[in-house]
Amino acid sequence: MKIVIMPGDGIGPEVTHEAVRVIEALGLGIDMKQAAVGGAAYKAYGHPLPPETLAIAEAADGILFGAVGDPDCDTLERHLRPEQAILGLRKALTLFANLRPAKVFKGLEDHSALRPEVASAIDLLIVRELNGDVYFGEKGYRTAADGTREGYDVMSYCESEVRRIAHVAFRAAQGRKGRLCSVDKANVLETSQLWRDVVVEIHKEYPDVQLSHMYVDNAAMQLVRNPGQFDVIVTGNLFGDILSDQASMCVGSIGMLASASLGERKTAHGTYGLYEPIHGSAPDIAGQGLANPMATILSAAMLLRHSLGQAAAADRIEAAVGKALEDGVLGRDLGGRAGTTEIGDAVLARL
Ligand code: NAD
Ligand code: IPM
Ligand code: MN
Repeated sequence: MKIVIMPGDGIGPEVTHEAVRVIEALGLGIDMKQAAVGGAAYKAYGHPLPPETLAIAEAADGILFGAVGDPDCDTLERHLRPEQAILGLRKALTLFANLRPAKVFKGLEDHSALRPEVASAIDLLIVRELNGDVYFGEKGYRTAADGTREGYDVMSYCESEVRRIAHVAFRAAQGRKGRLCSVDKANVLETSQLWRDVVVEIHKEYPDVQLSHMYVDNAAMQLVRNPGQFDVIVTGNLFGDILSDQASMCVGSIGMLASASLGERKTAHGTYGLYEPIHGSAPDIAGQGLANPMATILSAAMLLRHSLGQAAAADRIEAAVGKALEDGVLGRDLGGRAGTTEIGDAVLARL
C-alpha cells in the first residue's frame, strides 16, 4: 500500500500532519511519501505541479492532499498559480468524479448554521464532475485597442463526460437511499440542457433510482430550507464547487467536509484516487494551530476505504472523529476552543 502526502500551502501542512499521525497509528505498514504542490512547490521548484510530483502520484495507490493557495501567488500568470496543482492533478489523472459527503455528526446538531431540527436530517452526497465545465474551457483576458477589457471562460460538456459522471451518481444512489437529484441551469444554459438530456438517457439503465432535476438557484435555496430532502446530488464542476461549500455550513463547518476524487483506474485493493478536505489553504488562520483537521482526517478514512480496501480502518477513524465530537472536542470553526494538534490528539486517543 503506497500513498503520497501533498501538504501544500497555508493550513494544508497543519491538517495533513494530523491525518498522517492517525494513519501511522493504525499500524498498517502503509508506505508514505511526501510530494510538493502549490505555492510551496512554485517557490522551491518554479512550478505548482512539478513533474516529479506527478510521477510520485502515478506510482502510488492514492493521494492525500492538503490544500493549495497563497496570496503571494495571486498575481502570477495563471498557469503558475498554486491552484493549478489541484486542477492539474485532477485532469492529468482523469479523476472526474468528486464525492463530497455531508452528514451531521452526533453532537453537531446545535453547531450548524441551520436550526437543529433542520440540520439533523442531513445525510447527502454531492457527486461533482471534476474534469470539464467552465473550469477547462477556452479562457481569455484581453484588452482591445480602445483600452476596454474583456474576460471569458467557455462553459461546455461533451456527452461522454456527462455519461461517465451520471453512471457514478446513479450507482452511488443505488448504494444509498435510491434518490438522485441532478442540479443544472437548463432553463438558461445549453451546457445544462445537454447535461439533463444525457442524465435522463442514462436513467433508463437504473430504473430502481428515483431521478429528479432541480435548477441550481433553487438547489441553493433548498439546501438551506430542507436539506433532508436530498440523498445524492449530481452536478457540474462549478455548481458542485459552490453547493458543497454551502452544504458544509449546513452540517457545521467547512472544516468537516472530506472528499474523494476518483476515476476508472484500479489499484490492487480498490480504486485509485485523490483525497482532500473541501476547504482551501485558509491564509487567514494559517500557522496559528487553529485549523480543524477533521475534514482531512476523514479524507484519509475515505482513502483507506476506496483506494486501499481498508474498510475496517476507515470505520475506526470515522468512529474516533464521531466520538471526539460527541465528547465536545470542537475547533474554533465549530464554536469550540480546540486547536489543530489537540483535535488530532483527541482523535488518536479514541482510535
Ligand atoms: P478557504 O476554504 O481556504 O477558507 C474560507 C474560510 O473558512 C476562511 O475563513 C478559513 O479560515 C475557514 N476555514 C477553511 N478551512 C478551515 C478549517 N479546516 N478549519 C477552520 N477554518 C477553516 O477558502 P478561501 O479563503 O476562499 O481560499 C483561500 C485559498 O485557498 C485560495 O488561494 C483558494 O484558491 C484556495 N483553495 C484551495 C482549495 C484546494 O486546495 N482544494 C480549495 C478551496 C480554496
Ligand atoms: C475546491 C477548490 C478548487 C476548485 C480550486 C482551488 C481550484 O475550490 O477544491 O473546491 O474550484 O475546484
Ligand atoms: Mn471549492
